[in-house]
Amino acid sequence: MEIEGSERTPPEAGEVRRGLGKAFFAWLLAHGGGTDRRLYGARKRLLLGGLSGTVVEIGAGAGPNAEYLGAEAGASGVRWIAVEPNVHFHPRLRRAAGARGLDLEIVGGVAERLPLADASADAVVSTLVLCSVDSVAGVLAEVQRVLKPGGRFVFIEHVAAPEASVLRRWQRRLRRPWGALADGCRPDQDTLAMIDRAGFARVDAERFHLRAGLVAPHVAGVAVR
Ligand SMILES: C[S@@+](CC[C@H](N)C(=O)[O-])C[C@H]1O[C@@H](n2cnc3c(N)ncnc32)[C@H](O)[C@@H]1O
Repeated sequence: MEIEGSERTPPEAGEVRRGLGKAFFAWLLAHGGGTDRRLYGARKRLLLGGLSGTVVEIGAGAGPNAEYLGAEAGASGVRWIAVEPNVHFHPRLRRAAGARGLDLEIVGGVAERLPLADASADAVVSTLVLCSVDSVAGVLAEVQRVLKPGGRFVFIEHVAAPEASVLRRWQRRLRRPWGALADGCRPDQDTLAMIDRAGFARVDAERFHLRAGLVAPHVAGVAVR
């Protein structure tokens, strides 16, 4: 089932986004005070720690995943390509890469149209991004195009609550104001179903819950091309 409104017309490749709202969002995310590590650290160590080669991260934000991709975390020789349309994140990404000794290239475009060659990535990473891209199907098609055969799409995303639940009702009800406050995020999106039917050879995922109100239900996993 396609969630209403989850497919907007994607912007042109290479588009960068800037402005007061985007700068505030970048500041907010960068000042989480260790929240990301507390909520996701164990799963990120497990899923990201062993990656190597060319790792493309879509919606890399302020770079909270750098610490799991650096050599100290167990990842080896990672070339980190960060796709991030919000330019206010870019200096933070550079600092995060510098602190972890990561070889970073920033791509200022959107994940719906990755300016990368077919079968050029060993892994693609997405943490808390698919809820706010313009076209989930478009992004997943691009992820598969740029992955090498056998390459891994590693994801951690918050998702819709079960269909008949009270939380799902609230996710639907508050979708618009939530999206306005949280940079276009859709709390009621069944992202795992979208990944499942995107055409990967295999999808291994776990569902888990965090104490995070409207966005409590999560999925984490790996889809293999
Ligand atoms: C909630 S933040 C998550 C940032 C980071 N991945 C993290 O785990 O903290 C969502 C990110 O996706 C980016 N984003 C939104 N739409 C995008 C798109 N179409 N393509 C790539 N990134 C996008 C935003 O600029 C933002 O950095």
